[in-house]
Amino acid sequence: SQAASALQQATKPNSYREDEYAKVDWDNLGFGITPADFVYTMKCSIDGKFEQGELAPYGNVELSPSAAVLNYGQGLYEGTKAYRTDDGRLLLFRLDRNASRMKMGADRLCMPCPSIYQFVDAVKQTALANKRWTPPPGKGTLYIRPLLMGSGPILGLAPAPEYTFLIYASPVGNYFKEGLKPLSIYVEDEFHRATRGGAGGIKSITNYAPVLKAMARAKSRGFSDVLYLDSANKKNLEEVSSCNIFLVKGNVISTPATNGTILPGVTRRSIVEIARDHGYQVEERAIPLDELMDADEVFCTGTAVGVAPVGTITYQDRRVEYRVGEESVSRELYSILEGMKTGVIEDKKGWITEI
Ligand code: COI
Repeated sequence: SQAASALQQATKPNSYREDEYAKVDWDNLGFGITPADFVYTMKCSIDGKFEQGELAPYGNVELSPSAAVLNYGQGLYEGTKAYRTDDGRLLLFRLDRNASRMKMGADRLCMPCPSIYQFVDAVKQTALANKRWTPPPGKGTLYIRPLLMGSGPILGLAPAPEYTFLIYASPVGNYFKEGLKPLSIYVEDEFHRATRGGAGGIKSITNYAPVLKAMARAKSRGFSDVLYLDSANKKNLEEVSSCNIFLVKGNVISTPATNGTILPGVTRRSIVEIARDHGYQVEERAIPLDELMDADEVFCTGTAVGVAPVGTITYQDRRVEYRVGEESVSRELYSILEGMKTGVIEDKKGWITEI
């Protein structure tokens, strides 16, 4: 069939040629969905064993109206990016981290999960099959979105009788419409993102719709996003809707510790390690809001967001401005991380997988 021969062509190793790009306006990519050709799907029944997965053309998913994911939110997602190098290779970053985070989340939501090997192999297959949708170097990345969901039908509250792991992909550019401009963040003092003992520390789909209201409110007032505070005391920093947060004071870089209410970001972890390697003192701990307001510099990290400088933070009627630009710590760390991800800086950490 046409799909089969397109797939065969797309997955041929070293098939890169200049003319093998999808028709996309590479100069105007935002963070919107531009579906790439193939979706990877792998199913599993209640025995917990995932079968052989397969790539098929992008299209709608068929689900029972009583699927657990639709009714009770039994679902997880992940996010990772493929980078195209100048010489046409595809690079993937720390996939094992996404794979093990999905395992952790699956355990919390009573779902079986693909093995680390199955996860990594499936992401590689998906990236390779959709290679022509990977933007040219410097124009963006192929964002890869694995999902794990209770797809089987259920009415009483219980784990689903069947699970689906699927992966789709889309070329993307900058996450925020501000592009690379510093973000203006509003400190949310009514709503919370997560509570102790809840699901804030896993990438549950249920963590994301509840932030929309606060985000929409802040966006309508001209802010880029909101920062959440801990729900117990409304005092310590948690995270931003779509990313983790860091602050810089002198030579010390701090970020909230992952204590179950904060998403353990792959970019967060990587920036902590890179900063330590480059002589910064890095602290993962509880950070009171006062300290944030007193920082030299603030930045956000995430797979989608990258390393995004924060220009201003607003809390109630207080507004603080921070250092941004060439001389900033976030710029330094971002350059190193991007250099590694794009193959420009040698990967001495074993973080990069080439496919
Ligand atoms: C990512 O950074 O990849 C995420 O999953 C965050 C999402 C809100 C885009």
